[in-house]
Amino acid sequence: MCGIVGYIGQKKAYPILIKGLKRLEYRGYDSAGVAMIDTKGGLNVYKAKGKVADLEAFCEDKDISGNAGIAHTRWATHGEPNSANAHPHYSASGRLALIHNGIIENYATIKENLVARGIQFKSVTDTEVLVQLIEHIMVSNDLDLLEAVQVALHQVIGAYAIAILDREHPDTIICARQSSPLVVGLGEDGDFYLASDASPIAEYTDKVVYLNDGDIAVMRLGEKLKVVNLDNETQHPKVKQIDVTLGQLEKGGYPFFMLKEIFEQPNCLRDCMRGRINVEGDRITLSAVIDFREKLAGARRIIIVACGTSWHAGLIGKQLFESLCRIPVEVEYASEFRYREPVIFPDDVVIAISQSGETADTLAAIELARQAGAFVFGVCNAIGASIPRQTQTGVYIHVGPEIGVASTKAFTGQVTVLSMLALCLANERRTIPGDVYKEMVAELTRIPEKMEEALKTNEQIERLAPIFTYAKNCLYLGRGYNYPVALEGALKLKEISYIHAEGYPAAEMKHGPIALIDSEMPVFVIATRDKLYEKVISNIQEVRARGGRVTALVTAGDEQIRRLADHVIELPDTLECFQPLIASIPLQLLAYHIAVCKGKDVDRPRNLAKSVTVE
Ligand code: G6P
Repeated sequence: MCGIVGYIGQKKAYPILIKGLKRLEYRGYDSAGVAMIDTKGGLNVYKAKGKVADLEAFCEDKDISGNAGIAHTRWATHGEPNSANAHPHYSASGRLALIHNGIIENYATIKENLVARGIQFKSVTDTEVLVQLIEHIMVSNDLDLLEAVQVALHQVIGAYAIAILDREHPDTIICARQSSPLVVGLGEDGDFYLASDASPIAEYTDKVVYLNDGDIAVMRLGEKLKVVNLDNETQHPKVKQIDVTLGQLEKGGYPFFMLKEIFEQPNCLRDCMRGRINVEGDRITLSAVIDFREKLAGARRIIIVACGTSWHAGLIGKQLFESLCRIPVEVEYASEFRYREPVIFPDDVVIAISQSGETADTLAAIELARQAGAFVFGVCNAIGASIPRQTQTGVYIHVGPEIGVASTKAFTGQVTVLSMLALCLANERRTIPGDVYKEMVAELTRIPEKMEEALKTNEQIERLAPIFTYAKNCLYLGRGYNYPVALEGALKLKEISYIHAEGYPAAEMKHGPIALIDSEMPVFVIATRDKLYEKVISNIQEVRARGGRVTALVTAGDEQIRRLADHVIELPDTLECFQPLIASIPLQLLAYHIAVCKGKDVDRPRNLAKSVTVE
């Protein structure tokens, strides 16, 4: 939800800002803008509707000189995506420019007061209200910018990561955070970088400071980074080593990040298991389980909170924990959980799953669980993000930065971590025999190889994809562990090809969706050989009987379904509980190739954002 970049130092700011915005474009891409102090001391703001490339085109004939600037890529919340609503926003006098990621909830009241004092607005955004408020406070109370920011932020309710440039102080950028991420990079030459995540900073420095809620950072040339809170008390955030490499941030020869990330999955899963599964491949060690053994293994109940794809991973987690550990599990949309007055017991373990670690609803659900005294465990990808910092313990999935907006490798990484955790707890609780545990761990270590096998279906799927581009609706069916796979497959297709798709438990189809089935309706069935195999075959028969066109994902060598289905995609066999890790791959590829056939921007689907920091 909006990406923020800033730079102040000896280098030219513009190229750093534009490159940084491109790295953050996954966070929002409906408009973009940049503010820079030029070599003559002017404060220039350039903004354009569309992607960062449109902003670059717009800036071609503009003054882009200067060594200090802030930039923003937007995902609209207040006001349509156009250049007036794009950030940065000037203050009334043009002295300040501000960028913002988040939502100012009480902006309407603040705006009313400012309008009553004669201040005029050029946009309908909540952000412009903030910059006008800061300048108004600064001028009417004769305060400096830092003091004015502190007073203003005391009045603000909501979430923000902001950065401000002041024409009168071209050697300084001030930024602040509350519930929206912000990272400061400390350059070799005393220069400062600023971004919503570490990816725009990685190529310049490996020293970063992750700001905490309530922090205000003052980046002044020639001085050390100063961090204070709203009451001007000095804060001492730790300087950390950056966690991403440049290679991880590039497309590496693939046309889209999504395809690169799909193909990275075998290695990502190896990274995810490395150091956690021993070299013999028969034991899992998770430090979180060592540190909090009693809490976790003694859980009376597990509540999983998540959004989107992470919620689908949670549904797989439920089946793993229930069948392996015999712990009851509830899986909740974080956005519903937080407002539902849920019953939470102190001996509940709440598992929050989030790729970005910044999803506003998941953060709020964590807060609620903590207040109720539950133990909160995080499953996260982004190192140092808010969710790992607000949970008592957790496990990183370690799959590297995911740039494509449609989640792929993060999903399989989450399922892998949940599998490891479930096996670990089952072993602690003795709910599965030791030899079964060992065999399951060994099979988990074989999954990356089997994924490589599954990725060989890419060419077949690329050939099939054009057949489905005409479709207006698609149905995805699966049972047991494959039901969440069906949901995730349908979500992938919706997200990037804009074809309506629904995931359904195969047997539920006859209670409604069957009415939709005709020869125009592609039906994708996950029909790998497991205990419900025969029943899924009956479901395929029901679809066929109504003229539906079936594409089935089957276990290699399945002749029975080959005779029934229009198309079959063969997958390597594995244990039922790990099947989602394999079966997701062809569905990711299918969504990808259909979207490419339709000419869609796969990495940046319309209206979506990767990191949803607003509720
Ligand atoms: C957005 C993304 C999804 C993601 C969801 C939850 O909707 O587009 O891909 O699954 O947020 O994000 P999280 O970072 O919490 O996993």
